[in-house]
Amino acid sequence: MLEEMLDGVQVAAVVCNQWGDTGKGKVVDLLAKHFDLIVRGQGGNNAGHTVITGDRDLKLHVVPSGIIFDKEGKINVVGSGVAFNPISFQEELEKLEAAGLSYDNLKISHQAKLILPQHLLLDRIREARKGKGKIGTTGRGIGPVYGDHTLRLGLTVNDMLNREVFVRKLEKNLAEKLLVLRHDDPQLIKEIMQHDHLGSGKFHDVDRIFNMSAIVETYMDLGQKFKPYITDTDKLVKQALGAGKRILLEGAQGLLLSVDYGLHPFVTSSDASYRGLAKGAGLRDGDVDLVIGIAKAFYMTRVGAGPFPTEFGGDHSASWCNNPNVTFNIETQLYPNVSLEGHDGFEKGIAVRYAGKEYGTTTGRPRRCGRFDLPLLRYAKEINGEVVALTKLDVLDQADEIQICTNYKYTGPEYHVGGRVLRNGDLITTAIADNEVLQHCQPLYKTFPGWKSNTSKITEFSSLPLPLKEIISYVEKEAGVKVKIVSVGPDREQTIVV
Ligand code: GDP
Ligand code: IMO
Ligand code: MG
Repeated sequence: MLEEMLDGVQVAAVVCNQWGDTGKGKVVDLLAKHFDLIVRGQGGNNAGHTVITGDRDLKLHVVPSGIIFDKEGKINVVGSGVAFNPISFQEELEKLEAAGLSYDNLKISHQAKLILPQHLLLDRIREARKGKGKIGTTGRGIGPVYGDHTLRLGLTVNDMLNREVFVRKLEKNLAEKLLVLRHDDPQLIKEIMQHDHLGSGKFHDVDRIFNMSAIVETYMDLGQKFKPYITDTDKLVKQALGAGKRILLEGAQGLLLSVDYGLHPFVTSSDASYRGLAKGAGLRDGDVDLVIGIAKAFYMTRVGAGPFPTEFGGDHSASWCNNPNVTFNIETQLYPNVSLEGHDGFEKGIAVRYAGKEYGTTTGRPRRCGRFDLPLLRYAKEINGEVVALTKLDVLDQADEIQICTNYKYTGPEYHVGGRVLRNGDLITTAIADNEVLQHCQPLYKTFPGWKSNTSKITEFSSLPLPLKEIISYVEKEAGVKVKIVSVGPDREQTIVV
């Protein structure tokens, strides 16, 4: 079946059609054995991808999810569009070693954007300053590193291999950062710089904010460690394409978080569409033969701030999940008995979070949970195309009903958007990627009966419960998508290719 789906496909891209965490790691791992190269093209260690096979549970951030196949000679590539933190990357490699996995065929782009301590500091300071209006970033320096690239101030992985150039560029970069940071609160700076993600104070200098020599020595040292893996991956990928090799592109984040297609300002800073992915992997978007856009079903999640029309429990849930004191332990202590059949939206959201284990792979934050949203899927389809994988179908096995948002009713003030004027009461069928609109969208729901049976061991599409198949057909028809993969559990084996 998988062979059939991949027939004639040389380049495939796995992307997310929602707000991330839809199972890109799982789908890439599933497909990887059919490809020669597995390439990450955007995002950085803000991503958290899970690969579960048998009793191995691997959490990856920048290492591509095809790494399990390294020993079979598959080439895993960290492409030029990726934001690369060598310190956290080193930790990731150590985890691979501890899991008994090799990374002999790993390649790192010499042009990947280099994350430096100042990027983490700025990311965290900006978030702290925003107070209530914060985006809820992962604090990994993603916005500042891509910002520096666009501002023509960035460093790349290649600079770790050339001390003089590294020092010159670092000085210039820091000089610009210090113009602002010198006026900031030294106590806040100190606190942030003490974080273990920032070397527990190693890069901090009380007078000059940054300890230049500690940064230089650390990065030079890591540069030497990574030297055997650093190469011109854009060229490598293009040559592989020319040689007829099969290439699998692994997206990070989700379309709705894309800097180009997402809902500003609650986005990440790279293009999470298949186009951004292809570019950052060294290809043209026209090189991609198959785009698989994943959607969690039949619910969805979001981490961080920003409008989420179908959220279970609405604002109550948003502020609960974005409260840094709320952890899995606290939540399970306070709400031990919530149910998927309950009537309170907030508690239902918690029940979905428990059932789907919806806690961030990177930050451990509780993910906000909501109902499946067709207007957003229709929007995502316009960019990523019609082929869809539905994951996590087993999560709502015990729900008595499934609500699907079919359209929105606009409830905001008169608003001009893209040559159109929106007025209170207007119907919106395809989501408009503008928070001024989305925050005033009232979802209209269609309710389906739940299937109330265990799907996690089903291996054939035809054996799925009828009520579930009916919802799948409804979604296909209403969103104009084709469901090609259905996932009924976290393990590689728990997948049905349609
Ligand atoms: P990614 O960022 O898109 O790679 O997704 P994450 O790994 O952050 O989050 C997806 C989570 O769902 C992981 O814990 C996966 O193991 C898990 N998962 C993936 N597919 C399924 C599925 O079909 N059912 C269930 N129950 N869990 C799944
Ligand atoms: P994967 O690849 C879910 C979210 C953050 C925040 C916003 C900006 O695992 O799906 P950033 O640190 O990127 O500047 O944060 O984007 N975010 C993610 N949410 N999954 C991810 O990655 C994410 N990467 C970033 O929560 O709202
Ligand atoms: Mg994730």
